[in-house]
Amino acid sequence: MTPIITIQQMGQYEGQTVSLRGWVYNRTGKGRLHFIKLRDGTGIAQCVAFKKELPEDQFEAAKALTQESAIIVTGTVRKDERAPGIPGGYELGLSSLQVIQQAEDYPITPKEHGTEFLMDNRHLWLRSSRQWAILRIRATIIRAMRGWLDSNGYLLVDTPIITPSAGEDTTSLFELDYHDEVAYLAQTGQLYNEANAAAFGKVYCFGPTFRAEKSKTRRHLMEFWMLEPEMAFFSLEDLMEVEEQLVAHTIQTVLAEHRAELELLERDTARLEKAIPPFPRISYDEAVERLAKLREETDDPEQKELLKLEWGEDFGSPHETAIAEMFEKPVFVYHFPSEAKAFYMQPVEGRPEVCRSVDLLAPEGYGEVTGGSERIHDEALLLQKIAEHKLPVENYKWYIELRRFGSVPHGGFGLGLERTVAWICGLQHIRETIPYPRMLNRKYP
Ligand code: 4AD
Ligand code: MG
Repeated sequence: MTPIITIQQMGQYEGQTVSLRGWVYNRTGKGRLHFIKLRDGTGIAQCVAFKKELPEDQFEAAKALTQESAIIVTGTVRKDERAPGIPGGYELGLSSLQVIQQAEDYPITPKEHGTEFLMDNRHLWLRSSRQWAILRIRATIIRAMRGWLDSNGYLLVDTPIITPSAGEDTTSLFELDYHDEVAYLAQTGQLYNEANAAAFGKVYCFGPTFRAEKSKTRRHLMEFWMLEPEMAFFSLEDLMEVEEQLVAHTIQTVLAEHRAELELLERDTARLEKAIPPFPRISYDEAVERLAKLREETDDPEQKELLKLEWGEDFGSPHETAIAEMFEKPVFVYHFPSEAKAFYMQPVEGRPEVCRSVDLLAPEGYGEVTGGSERIHDEALLLQKIAEHKLPVENYKWYIELRRFGSVPHGGFGLGLERTVAWICGLQHIRETIPYPRMLNRKYP
C-alpha cells in the first residue's frame, strides 16, 4: 500500500512513492509538462505532471485542473532545493492523479481583492497562505500560553458564557432573553475566576468573551477570546512577573516554531526577539508626565492634539502607541485612576484616586494586550463601589459573599488573544486574527 502522507512529512519520504491529498493552489505549464501547486492544510508542494509518466486521461485531467479542485496524487518524492512551496525543497513526480471534484470558477484569485470582498468570502479566504500562516500561529499561541500555565500550577476552570450580571461595565453588554429573564453574554470570566481561585488557588479560564462596543477600530471585536489567570494571595507585583513570563514564553515559542509563517507574513521579528523579561514598569502618573513632555517637544500640531490627556482619563490608542514607543520592550503601566477603571479594582492604600491595576502595552502600535488588577477583598468597600457604579447589588450576592469566607488579597488579568496574535504576526487589523470575526458591521459568514 502506498502511504498517504502530508506535505509537511515529505522530507521523511525522499525517493519513496507516496500519495498526497488536497486542493489545487495553482497550475502552470504547457505542452508535456505541468506544475500543480498542491495545498493540503499542512503546506504547499509542487507536483510535476509529465506526459510520459502519467496515463493519458490523467495527464489530460491534470491540464484541465482549476484552482481549488480536490485531488489525490501519487508519485515519487524528489529532493530539489529550488522546489517552491511551504516548506519547499521537495517535489512530487506524479505517476497517478485522481480528481475528486473539479472546482467551479474560484472567486479568490492571486490578483488583489478589496477587504470587504475578502471578508464576505472569509469561508474561502481561510485557504489563502497568509490566513494559513496567521491561524497556525494563533493555535501555537494558545498552546504555548496554556502550556505555560498548565506547567506552572494553574488549573483550568471554565466559566459560564451566559451570565446574570455585568462583569465589566454596563455599556457593552449583549443582552439575551433567558426564558423571559434578562441575561448577558460574558464580558469576562473574572468574577467566577475569583470564586474559583478561592477553591483552587491558581486558576485560569480561556474562552470567548463578548463586548457590544460601538467601536470600529482595528483593535476591537464584538467576540474575542480572553485568557484570564486569577490567583489567591497575589499582589500587583506578582501579576506583572507572571505576565512577562507568560508573554515572553509565548513569543519565544512562536519564534522557534514558525519561522516560515513569520517570513510569509513578512514580519520583521527584531522587536519581538527583544521581548524578554524584565519588562519596564511605569506608573500612570509617570506616563502622563512623559506624554505631556512629548507634546511639548513635538512640532506636529496633529500629534499635539492626539496626545492631549487630562489626568484621570484612560488612554486612547495614540497615547498607548506613544508610551510604548518610548521603550524597546512591552511596557507595564500601573496604578490607573480608579474612575477610569472597573468597580472591582483595589484602591491604592492612602491614595484611593488610583487603583492597583496594570495594563501591558505592546510595542509597534499594538497597544493594550492585557488588563489586570488586585481585586477588592473587603466586603464594605466592595459594596460601596458597586453602589458608586450603580450596579444592581442583588445580582452580585454570590460575588460579595466571597468576601466573608476567608477573603484574601488576590488578583488576575485578562489577555486578549486576538490583539496578541495581531502583534506577534505584525498585522494591520484584528479582523484577520480570528477565523470568523464579529465586528460592528459584520457577522457574516
Ligand atoms: O481590560 P479588559 O476589559 O479586562 C477585563 O475584562 C478583566 N476582567 C480581565 C481580568 O482581569 N481577568 O480586557 C482584557 C483584554 C484587553 O487588554 C484586550 O487585550 C482584550 O482583552 N480586549 C479586546 N480584544 C478585542 N476586542 C475587544 N473589544 C476587546 N476588549 C478587550
Ligand atoms: Mg482594559
